[in-house]
Amino acid sequence: MSDTLLYEGKAKKIFSTDDPEIVRISYKNDTTAFNGEKFEQLEGKGQLNNEITSFFFNYLEEHGISSHFVRKISETEQLVRRVEIVPLEVVTRNIVAGSLSKRLGWEEGRKLPKPIVEFYYKDDELGDPLLADVHVQTLELATTFELEKLRRQALEINQHLLELLEPLGLLLVDFKLEFGREASGSFLLADEISPDTCRFWDMETNEKLDKDRFRRDLGGVTAAYAEVYRRLNSNN
Ligand code: TMP
Repeated sequence: MSDTLLYEGKAKKIFSTDDPEIVRISYKNDTTAFNGEKFEQLEGKGQLNNEITSFFFNYLEEHGISSHFVRKISETEQLVRRVEIVPLEVVTRNIVAGSLSKRLGWEEGRKLPKPIVEFYYKDDELGDPLLADVHVQTLELATTFELEKLRRQALEINQHLLELLEPLGLLLVDFKLEFGREASGSFLLADEISPDTCRFWDMETNEKLDKDRFRRDLGGVTAAYAEVYRRLNSNN
């Protein structure tokens, strides 16, 4: 198997394979926040994010939503279709938390009148700023038509995830998606869906079961990720 490191991000490494259309993702234990300013190695985090992401992408596929995901090949690795990641973070929110709480001055935990979708520019030097549609178009990241499609798909994914998570006692507060462009030019869901990129709260206690435990020094980070994994696997 050819094995060239193509890209190393904060939480994952991407390697080539013998098939030019397929790459191998290796999930790292590295955990960062605030643009990499805060950093720690958390034993077992890579494995949990690989397992949880594989679970979500399989689940979405079963519900008619394709992604770059091909299959999990080891505890920490998966094969995915090779795409050009669009530097756009598509954030969907059901409940106020994090940066939205600061932006609106609304308290964390308040339910939004309806789910909202926001776009952020994936650019560490700029600190991933929020983008209005006109900025997305000016940067030529997506057309108006594509933005509308991304919004619709994000809301559809939100609906599927809410239906999956509610019976497991998990509140999906918000989550971030990334998309890649295929050779044909069309958008394909990519990257990961894990406690690194979502906010999950226990429905009874509001306990945080995601990366906010790390961002806010709450401790028990991997235990929380393991709890999400346990619940996802509890009904099969
Ligand atoms: P925010 O409230 O900090 O804007 O985060 C919204 C959601 O996006 C939350 O589920 C965490 C996720 N997120 C990432 O996946 N990567 C990031 O770099 C940031 C800032 C947020």
